[in-house]
Amino acid sequence: MQTTLDIKNTSIPRIGLGTWQLNGIDCTNSVSTALELGYRHIDTAQIYDNEAEIGQAIAESGIPRSEIFLTTKIWVDNVASGAAQKSVEESLKKLKTDHVNLLLLHWPVKTIPLHRQIRALQTIQDWGMTKLIGVSNYPVALMQQILDETDAEIVTNQVEYHPYLSQQPVLDFVEKHHMFLTAYCPLSRGLVRTDPTILKIAGKYGKSAGQVTLRWLIQQGNVLAIPKAANPLHIEDNIQIFDFELTTEEMQQIKALANPEGRIVNPEWSPQWDAPDQDSQAA
Ligand SMILES: NC(=O)c1ccc[n+]([C@@H]2O[C@H](COP(=O)([O-])OP(=O)(O)OC[C@H]3O[C@@H](n4cnc5c(N)ncnc54)[C@H](OP(=O)(O)O)[C@@H]3O)[C@@H](O)[C@H]2O)c1
Repeated sequence: MQTTLDIKNTSIPRIGLGTWQLNGIDCTNSVSTALELGYRHIDTAQIYDNEAEIGQAIAESGIPRSEIFLTTKIWVDNVASGAAQKSVEESLKKLKTDHVNLLLLHWPVKTIPLHRQIRALQTIQDWGMTKLIGVSNYPVALMQQILDETDAEIVTNQVEYHPYLSQQPVLDFVEKHHMFLTAYCPLSRGLVRTDPTILKIAGKYGKSAGQVTLRWLIQQGNVLAIPKAANPLHIEDNIQIFDFELTTEEMQQIKALANPEGRIVNPEWSPQWDAPDQDSQAA
């Protein structure tokens, strides 16, 4: 399997470094370590308050900016107040770059018509401040609304996805519309480490439970994963997943671990989430 997913003339590394709760020197160190170990995809967001550290680590790495796939997300307050463009200018300044590769709306905002939020993203894209645009935490009904009401070329929906949470409706939707799913909390914040089913499979390949989980995600084809790690051993582990392949049966065994209580991230501003058995065609 290739280490990148190719879409719209762009090669995106299937594994990126998640950076939520990485701040200050810990953030700079983790990003520097990741870049040294071969990562070329970094995920951040305005609300993580670490764009400056990430910009610094990238600048100090000496790796050409053109080799790094960088994502940031516009925080909801900046969308709601109409300050999306200005906020992205500030993000770019902190990130020490004139563009990101992917810009996402972090969460649906209910107070502004969806087509206006997407229009703001498109304007930022037209100005060259991002190559690609997408959304995060969008149920399929809202994704369908984007397709119905705008001509925006959304490439991804970044959602929580790991063995304990089915995202079948989003998976069906992105496949149908030639997009990809970006899996956040791909390790279910570490819960997979002690899972007996995953550990058994891991033993067979001489891999860790985290590695098997990440392999399960990316082996689905149009799924990328952005595990967060501060521990250098974890950072290294999470990218060593291209030298083994799960069988169809193992893929099914891990898929069967999904359960209704599997969701971790569910703040009060969450949208109505998709039900796992919902038919995405009906949305
Ligand atoms: N769009 C959104 O709304 C949204 C929401 C949540 C997260 N995200 C993004 O997704 C990223 C990942 O999600 P997350 O940080 O919530 O959870 P996660 O990546 O599932 O889990 C991170 C935890 O797993 C541990 N870990 C990492 N690699 C490991 C390994 N190989 N073996 C054992 N433990 C390991 C980390 O420990 P150490 O740090 O000690 O290494 C950390 O405690 C975030 O950082 C952020 O970029 C986006």
